[in-house]
Amino acid sequence: METDVLIIGGGAAGLMCAGAASKRGRRVIVIEHTDKIAEKIRISGGGRCNFTNINCTPDKFISNNPHFCTSALSRFTQHDFINLVGRHDIAFHEKKLGQLFCDNSAHDIIAMLLAECDNDFVDIKTSVSIDEITKNDNETFTAKTSRGEIITKSVVIACGGLSIPKIGASPFGYEIAKQFGLSIVPPRAGLVPLTFDPDILSATKDLSGVAVDEAKISSESGKFFEEALLFTHKGISGPAVLQISSYWNTGEFVTINLAANTNTYQFLKAQKVAQPKSMVQTVLSDLLPKRLAQFIADQQNITGRMADLPDKVLEKIAQNVENWSIKPSGSEGYRTAEVTLGGVNTDHISSKTFECKNVSGLYFIGEVLDVTGHLGGYNFQWAWSSGWCAGQYV
Ligand code: FDA
Repeated sequence: METDVLIIGGGAAGLMCAGAASKRGRRVIVIEHTDKIAEKIRISGGGRCNFTNINCTPDKFISNNPHFCTSALSRFTQHDFINLVGRHDIAFHEKKLGQLFCDNSAHDIIAMLLAECDNDFVDIKTSVSIDEITKNDNETFTAKTSRGEIITKSVVIACGGLSIPKIGASPFGYEIAKQFGLSIVPPRAGLVPLTFDPDILSATKDLSGVAVDEAKISSESGKFFEEALLFTHKGISGPAVLQISSYWNTGEFVTINLAANTNTYQFLKAQKVAQPKSMVQTVLSDLLPKRLAQFIADQQNITGRMADLPDKVLEKIAQNVENWSIKPSGSEGYRTAEVTLGGVNTDHISSKTFECKNVSGLYFIGEVLDVTGHLGGYNFQWAWSSGWCAGQYV
């Protein structure tokens, strides 16, 4: 088989690139090693796909080279994607913080990406694996696949990161990068729940399932997020925790304010006057979920009525509510992580074309690169932007 463009990975970035390249009349083959394309799109956003974010800006991305993403994000913006969604009559809504979701189903986005691929030019092959890719003397590549050889002018690596191996994640992109002499920023799980060691877990196990709507969580580097937090039977999760996990390194502490929008000390002092006969856990449960209020009182062995508690004790309780410093033992890892931090070092890649600077015809797009977005639609926007840009040049 011969083609102009061989795309490895039938996910968000690969399908976007296939559509863009086919519009330029390029013959495209997409190789997906599982039996389904776009599985991550299908399961994303609880089945409704948080497909972009209205507030997408480069500062929402983590990379060793923070400026790398700027060009692509400005050439194919969230508004370009929203226009595309609009042209396909896909109904959507903003959930919160600029996050856009399909009204109906993530399938709408997959159908749209397929409709954007010109059938005369795009051939999507599922359940095909690649054994080897080599560069030929005449500037073409040969890919040996489980269904024969493909000769191609361009190869686009769009096979994502390591998150969720169960649905197809593989290290293939990093292996190809290394084969062609590119370096890798060490990958690690991002947007992932954090775990506690058994000592801490034995104290927090009764909190499993408790959600705090207005938590603020900070990393040692000073990065912080204010969103919901959830106690789990393994540690902590919820949007605030997923966000900070991308800034957390093993061995570091995170600091949690469980009542981010309240001055807890002033609140307790006011309640001491307003409800002098109430127990502290009763008063705290006006601020926090009941089980958490009880946990904080128990942790400090505080009993008795508000009227009997000196202000110094109220101060200590407030400290515990607003400044809970905890060292997670680890994360749930790639099994549940939404993304992979790190990846192919962007120093080797043109931020305009996504072609390798030292290997003409070889392109890397999407999550396989060392570019990782915050939670909230940013990672798909990166897949759309990088996929569309590469599609203009392959
Ligand atoms: P993606 O992972 O989408 O695609 C890579 C494809 O390559 C896969 O189909 C894989 O099977 C295939 N592949 C791998 N190795 C291969 C090989 N050797 N040969 C052939 N094919 C190979 N983001 C967001 O913005 N909003 C959201 O709502 C969510 N929600 C979400 C939920 C969950 C559960 C997860 C795991 C992730 C998200 N994300 C998200 C993140 C988002 O899904 C992710 O960043 C993009 O899908 C990355 O797009 P890519 O195309 O780069 O990789």
